[in-house]
Amino acid sequence: MAQRQEYNVMENGPRATDGRAALRVGLIGAGYIGGVHSSAYLAAPGVLGDDVPAVELVRIADVELARAAELAKRWGWSEATDDWRSVTRDPNLDAVDICVPNFLHAEIAIDALAHGKHVVCEKPLTSGVEGGEEMARAARDSDLAAQVAFYYRTWPVMSWAKEQIERGRIGRVRYFRGRMFQDYASDPAAPLGWRAQSDAAGGGAIGDLGSHVIDLAHYLVGPIAEVVCDLRSDVARVPPADVDDVATIMARFENGASGVLEVSWAMPGHKCDLGFEVVGERGSIKFEWENSNEVRIATVDADSGDCDERLLIGGAGPSADAFVAVGGQGLGYRDGFAIGIGEFLKACAGRPSTGPTFADGLAALRVAAAATESAEHGRWTAVRSQEPK
Ligand SMILES: NC(=O)c1ccc[n+]([C@@H]2O[C@H](COP(=O)([O-])OP(=O)(O)OC[C@H]3O[C@@H](n4cnc5c(N)ncnc54)[C@H](O)[C@@H]3O)[C@@H](O)[C@H]2O)c1
Repeated sequence: MAQRQEYNVMENGPRATDGRAALRVGLIGAGYIGGVHSSAYLAAPGVLGDDVPAVELVRIADVELARAAELAKRWGWSEATDDWRSVTRDPNLDAVDICVPNFLHAEIAIDALAHGKHVVCEKPLTSGVEGGEEMARAARDSDLAAQVAFYYRTWPVMSWAKEQIERGRIGRVRYFRGRMFQDYASDPAAPLGWRAQSDAAGGGAIGDLGSHVIDLAHYLVGPIAEVVCDLRSDVARVPPADVDDVATIMARFENGASGVLEVSWAMPGHKCDLGFEVVGERGSIKFEWENSNEVRIATVDADSGDCDERLLIGGAGPSADAFVAVGGQGLGYRDGFAIGIGEFLKACAGRPSTGPTFADGLAALRVAAAATESAEHGRWTAVRSQEPK
């Protein structure tokens, strides 16, 4: 079993103000999201306070060394390399952050866990269920933190919504409606790179954006039991691609609720149009990312009358005390990553964390796989949900 390491106490290394040694991190993949994660490591310990350990940004790896060097210069990583194993196998590192294309996640994460590193891995967990099962097994058999970066889930609205549901504020949940539409792949010549190859990505929009919606459905309502799905490749790509552009999934949850999940990366006019409605016997909660600092709750009450409230993050609604003093000041996309990375760092330090785990990542992969299978056969398909052996 890979063991949790105490932080490496470097004689002259950075320390938290309380004298604790810093957690030494390495990051693999210096592309778009590698930069977003880099800024989150700088923000999280300062903004979120004592539960989040101080961090030393030790090494960043990218197969294109110039990219790693550029992010190292920009965000203060001490070293750049083109060899990811020099991150996963360095005995002086405590944690590894994986920001490479999906098909590489499993090999890198399993190597990092085997070398005693805490791991955070970008979503989807990997490009196929089998690799995801291996990752979940490696995580389960270690005592290390193993989280997946479903960082819409850690947005303050989501935990607030979950709490309202659990308190029974909208009654028993009957229906979930979730979507994620973007338009960055609408143009037939859009440079999708590895995302346009199903071998590398594990699917098209359903994995790239759908994994977020599936994870939110699981988080807010519970496990999805079966699905029926229509998958379409609507855009005549140049060069041709073998990935889906639109996924429309009908879902039945284990708890009896039903719902629909709509996903596309080719919906012109939709930028980051992630949203959900959770409908219960006595009310609804509604959210959309393009107005990400507000949430609506509407309830029906025979005694006190109906209510329809719009609540602001940091005000009367979801708490964001660490970030803003006044409701309405607003949090942004990178704050969401600071919260998520903060949850990872807490887990590395052995503190309670609400960060999504490899098991959550595997659960989302299984729903996407069942949806893809359903689209091939045109019928309801059960989600395989047994524990990985
Ligand atoms: N959580 C989110 O909302 C979110 C948003 C965007 C991307 N992502 C995920 O992040 C991951 C990366 O996406 P991206 O948009 O940053 O992609 P990207 O193409 O911008 O960056 C990927 C980087 O990985 C590097 N790379 C490829 N092979 C490598 C190897 N063998 N060793 C080291 N580096 C290698 C590439 O050179 C590139 O710099 C994907 O899994 C994606 O799904 C998540």
